[in-house]
Amino acid sequence: MSMTIVRDVRDLDRWAGGAFVPTMGALHEGHGSLISIAAGSGLPAVVSIFVNPTQFAPHEDLDRYPRTPEADLELAARHGAAVCWFPSVEDLYPSGLDAARREAATLALPAVACEPALEDAIRPGHFAGVVQVVARLFDLCRPRRAIFGEKDFQQLRVIECMVEEELQRGSRWGDLSIVRGPTIREPGGLAMSSRNRYLSAQSRERALGLRRALQVAHAAQRPETAERLMRETLLAHELEVQYAVVRDAETLRPVSDLRRPTRALIAARLPEARLIDNSAMTIWR
Ligand code: PAF
Repeated sequence: MSMTIVRDVRDLDRWAGGAFVPTMGALHEGHGSLISIAAGSGLPAVVSIFVNPTQFAPHEDLDRYPRTPEADLELAARHGAAVCWFPSVEDLYPSGLDAARREAATLALPAVACEPALEDAIRPGHFAGVVQVVARLFDLCRPRRAIFGEKDFQQLRVIECMVEEELQRGSRWGDLSIVRGPTIREPGGLAMSSRNRYLSAQSRERALGLRRALQVAHAAQRPETAERLMRETLLAHELEVQYAVVRDAETLRPVSDLRRPTRALIAARLPEARLIDNSAMTIWR
């Protein structure tokens, strides 16, 4: 089946009720797996490609964020997308970007977007931009399902909470449900990310420390032991640790034991990029 390319938002109407995969492009097999989940749902898979300025801080990589539209179209089609939609800034922010940035700063965010002191603390304003753009994309695309990767676990929880809160208010998004897609890894274990292409060969090697840190965490019986082991592993790989924590898998708040579902979450810096990764802790009982 051939894939339709939508550039005029009015052509999107006929695809309402689909399975939606919002992206910022520079697609890799991690996105491919989300698109395959959407395509396998029996609903038409709608992929959007928009590098959203309101979720980048002024010092971040908005300008150099990789843009690969031709390769993106090929990958989306290969994974069964029915539609690839390129929204414009005007479609998403009719009052302009400056107004959108001011509006983002006033949005009420779910607690999981501002309390855990993880991505929210390191990238202040980021989740306001994510919530803003995703809500607007949902308004225009009106999907029945939307698929988000576990790789950005805090983002996934923020979107899940945003949709739950909207449902409680009598959702403007009907019966939209959020579907989780697993993290897809490169052969060595590095979680796939559009920013991996910034990494030199040497940094790629060091970046494997994230996966190894998550693996050693699983041997621990207590959250603080897991956190110490992760930190030691990251430092042994010469990574600058931003956080290496074990948190409640729903609220992302600190936990005192592993008796309920928890998540190990890591952020670390290399010269070319900061990387995040996470995994479910398996020893809860
Ligand atoms: O995860 C991403 O690629 C972005 O944050 C998203 C969800 C497409 C919003 O711009």
